[in-house]
Amino acid sequence: MFSYDAETRYTWFKGESLEPERQFELVGMIVGLALYNGVILGINFAPIVYKKLVGEQVGLEDVKIAFPGLGKGLEMLLDWKEEDGDVEDVFCRSFDIEYEVWGKVRTIPLVHGGSNIPVTNANRKEYVDLYINHYVNESVKRQFGAFRRGFHRVCGGPALKMCRAEELEMMICGTNELDFKDLEAGAKYDDGYDANHEVIKNFWSVAHSMSHEHKKELLMFVTASDRVPLKGLGNLVFVIQRNGPDTERLPTALTCFGRLLLPEYSTKEKLENRLITAIENAKGFGLV
Ligand SMILES: *[C@@H]1O[C@H](CO)[C@@H](O)[C@H](O)[C@H]1NC(C)=O
Repeated sequence: MFSYDAETRYTWFKGESLEPERQFELVGMIVGLALYNGVILGINFAPIVYKKLVGEQVGLEDVKIAFPGLGKGLEMLLDWKEEDGDVEDVFCRSFDIEYEVWGKVRTIPLVHGGSNIPVTNANRKEYVDLYINHYVNESVKRQFGAFRRGFHRVCGGPALKMCRAEELEMMICGTNELDFKDLEAGAKYDDGYDANHEVIKNFWSVAHSMSHEHKKELLMFVTASDRVPLKGLGNLVFVIQRNGPDTERLPTALTCFGRLLLPEYSTKEKLENRLITAIENAKGFGLV
């Protein structure tokens, strides 16, 4: 149903998808329900998706973000200097778009009889506009239309119109900024730990000096998501619970409750070593 671009890491709709519309409608409803219930989703739709959802204009800049190869090609065509030759001779394009669908190349005219109309210096702007319209609108009309319908069934209404596309994206996906000061401020402690406990001081000292990747892994380890809710990490349930005396064992977590089970490691170095080992090697759920 969706395509995934390994370079941009964006998800986009598959225009040639044969899935029935209600499948896309269902995905739209799930995204809407998540938004309604304040659940942050780890999806990575191209920003164009949010622009289309709130009805903002999509242009070449957006195409360059979501589909860099195509965007660069179209931009080159627009920026081509006339003194370097005519666009018609250099690019040899006509008013159509070629697709590979299920292993076969299909040619779709952008205007009536487009395959016989060459792209020239004079009409290239029109060509680029039509191309983008086809790419982001026409080619995914059925799939995106159903998705939008599903989304609007849950989250339609005037409030959506007050959002900009980036705000909508943030509400659905959270932000990427990991403010661990916020996380520390909102953290709670259990079973003998408190903010002034030596182990807890060591923990935060280690956590604050972590790389961005390790911070994400720590969040993933404890809460099963590396996404940050819109109101920030201070709003996350994050509990550090004492899990027995000093030991060689690794820390564990109860992700459903946002609890880190941290043994009372004797030194900061040991805590760092055990913690990093645990988060680097965590793979989903295990029985403790
Ligand atoms: C896509 O369709 C919408 C709605 O019909 C239109 O407003 C918009 O201009 C189109 N986008 C492009 C890039 O042509």
